[in-house]
Amino acid sequence: MSARVVETDAPVVVGSGLAGLSVARHLGGPCVVVAPAGLGEGTASAWAQGGIAAAVGPGDDPQQHADDTARAGSFAGDTATITRMTQAAPALVAELVAAGVPFDRDASGALSLGREGGHGRHRVCHVGGDRTGAAVVDALAPQVAATSDAAVVRGRALELLVDDDGVAGVLVLDADGPLELRTRRVVLATGGGAALYRDTTNPLGSWGSGVVLAGRAGARLADLELVQFHPTSLDVGGGSGAPLPLVTEAVRGAGAHLLSDGRRFVDEVSPRDVVAAAVHRERVLGRQVALDCRHVPDLLEHFRGLAQRCADMGLDPARDLLPVRPAAHYQMGGVLTDVRGRTDVPGLWACGEVACTGLHGANRLASNSLLEAGVTGTAVAQDAARWAGRTASWATDRVDPVPPERTTTLAPVDGRRGSPTSPKIASVEVRAVMSDLVGVVRDADGLAQAIGRLDDLPGDDALLGGLVARRALARRESLGAHLRADAPAPAVA
Ligand code: SIN
Repeated sequence: MSARVVETDAPVVVGSGLAGLSVARHLGGPCVVVAPAGLGEGTASAWAQGGIAAAVGPGDDPQQHADDTARAGSFAGDTATITRMTQAAPALVAELVAAGVPFDRDASGALSLGREGGHGRHRVCHVGGDRTGAAVVDALAPQVAATSDAAVVRGRALELLVDDDGVAGVLVLDADGPLELRTRRVVLATGGGAALYRDTTNPLGSWGSGVVLAGRAGARLADLELVQFHPTSLDVGGGSGAPLPLVTEAVRGAGAHLLSDGRRFVDEVSPRDVVAAAVHRERVLGRQVALDCRHVPDLLEHFRGLAQRCADMGLDPARDLLPVRPAAHYQMGGVLTDVRGRTDVPGLWACGEVACTGLHGANRLASNSLLEAGVTGTAVAQDAARWAGRTASWATDRVDPVPPERTTTLAPVDGRRGSPTSPKIASVEVRAVMSDLVGVVRDADGLAQAIGRLDDLPGDDALLGGLVARRALARRESLGAHLRADAPAPAVA
């Protein structure tokens, strides 16, 4: 079937989580938003529980937030990016308040701040305790929908169209078949790739399609092996392929304990890589790991999604120990961007989880993801609105946030760069290989086995899985969320 063609001067924004919605809100003119299920729906943003980290509490300041971000990321993040994002955080929260996001407040009317792993202070702004992402999307999506500026195409991006001048459009599949949206400005806000794994907390559409789209178009990718595993997904219903329900780490910040065969074994508010590795280790030793929330004051009033999430699994968090396990949650790496969100391809920007901005280093600090999505979405909109299309000037003043040895391209992988086969969700086989062989703890034998198996499988999901495994094999060290059983962690000053 030949594709329908639509030509437009407007930017096309692919994705409608917080990053995509922020772009659409700040462009200050018309845009087309490509969203498979309607604005905000089925996005990881809408599933985000904990909140948005911002130094807005007494005694806090952006430098302390920056220090915690850098430390949680094993000092592999980019200092300039970390500084910029943490400084922008209070203004993002203020903007969202103005947009109607009903952040929780204390009796005095001040923002109520939660504490999560790796934060030295209470600094996480939240809604309903653990339904922050849904509240943000619920506030912003109708506003974007209500403007005449945003035209929504319900479909999935299959391929970026490029020519000698850079981006030339996007090929989308919607209910009527293939549709070519021809434009010189495309923003990728497609979210991350944690659903490349069987054990994932993410919506299944979040398997990393945007990384492949950009890589195929010629953009460099970075830090792909850095995948964050959340330590406390509910260990229930294993094997069904459905995402595992998450218990927000804000519950641990409020005092919940992690128990292994009934005994505490880790500081529950350590950074996420540390806690996930500890939970994994206990499980490998055959012990039962559980979250004990029973003593947390006002548990069900503070965490309004928790009771329902647990009830769906036949559990009552006020009475039962909750069995938990690590599950793939977030990709630190992605499409390499500069401070403006520019990729290597003129006219192509990336923001939110699909991008690698250098904020997270080797392990993202809790609740820095919605922060990054909001801040980078706004920056990209400002740059895209101004860009005059002069290809030669695209890379002027470009500074990469990670060193060259942490970047890669799709080209060396195999001949499949030119033949898109983008699935809606990753295959059962790919997800099994990733969880079993490219998981919390990796080693050379398992990674080589994973590469062999993924290379035999069709589809862009297998292509991306193979790339993640190759990068994990090549990185012969343990750093942050990349834990190699056969390689030591470098000393951290
Ligand atoms: C959580 O609430 O534990 C997850 C929030 C995040 O991913 O930062």
